[in-house]
Amino acid sequence: MRIAFIGGGAMGEAMVKCLLTKKVAVPQDMVVSDISPVRRELLSKEYGVSTLADNRKAVTNADLIILAVKPQNLPQVMEEIKTPSPEQLVLSIVAGATLSSLCRGLNHSSIIRAMPNMPAQIGEGMTIWAATAETEQKQKELARTVLGALGKEIYVTDEKYLGMATALSGSGPAYVFLFIEALVDAGVHIGLPRDMAQELVIQTVLGSTRTVEKTGKHPADLRNMVTSPGGTTTEALLQLEKGRFRSLILEAVAAACKKAERL
Ligand SMILES: NC(=O)c1ccc[n+]([C@@H]2O[C@H](COP(=O)([O-])OP(=O)(O)OC[C@H]3O[C@@H](n4cnc5c(N)ncnc54)[C@H](OP(=O)(O)O)[C@@H]3O)[C@@H](O)[C@H]2O)c1
Repeated sequence: MRIAFIGGGAMGEAMVKCLLTKKVAVPQDMVVSDISPVRRELLSKEYGVSTLADNRKAVTNADLIILAVKPQNLPQVMEEIKTPSPEQLVLSIVAGATLSSLCRGLNHSSIIRAMPNMPAQIGEGMTIWAATAETEQKQKELARTVLGALGKEIYVTDEKYLGMATALSGSGPAYVFLFIEALVDAGVHIGLPRDMAQELVIQTVLGSTRTVEKTGKHPADLRNMVTSPGGTTTEALLQLEKGRFRSLILEAVAAACKKAERL
């Protein structure tokens, strides 16, 4: 299988790295095309993949073409690689680029649109993806294998969920990082050394996440298990409710979703 990446930035690199780590591909299977000479040098040195500065050349003979450029660079890229061979599969991770706009721009019908997220950089990503009706089953299986190398993947038949997922899992790591940062700062505020606060917070977030996953219990049930009557946790929860913690999160995600629809 030959994979051509158009764009070898943060996400392109994450995908190359995960495909190699999970042994889905070997360096000889991959070519990365990027306008940046710095990125080309880094990728070939670090991962042994071949690199090019010519998008058209890069996609020749590729079974899978992965579009990993910023949305503003997509029109030019689509013009350059327009009308790929019918059997080639195009997988785009470009935020906001719909299946129909990709089909039009590329004059092609076998297309997958995916929304991964940043923890894909360590193989712990969450990706949601959809495909055009013309995409064959074996091409979908290929996409599942490639996206599965980034972490978890969910296939949806309705593309509308990708815009929503952009606001939840796509932007989600930023919300979680902010929460972690705030908790660490809170630890420092009450007198803990910063490194100790950081260690306590990371394991607390990890452990709580795994508890939700492993027990399958509703988060509210788990929260009640930590909240003794008249205790310390309920004091903190009161402050969070006063500050509209829950509705603020709903409003934040809804705002991101609206923005994703406008892009
Ligand atoms: N980062 C995330 O967490 C994330 C999550 C989900 C989806 N995405 C999507 O993934 C895509 C890539 O994001 P990223 O964070 O990897 O961006 P990035 O780091 O900016 O990578 C894009 C790379 O493409 C290069 N490039 C620009 N124009 C090009 C062209 N015409 N031909 C070939 N290469 C070109 C850029 O070079 P220059 O820097 O020199 O322009 C850069 O090296 C975006 O569309 C984004 O919406 C990102």
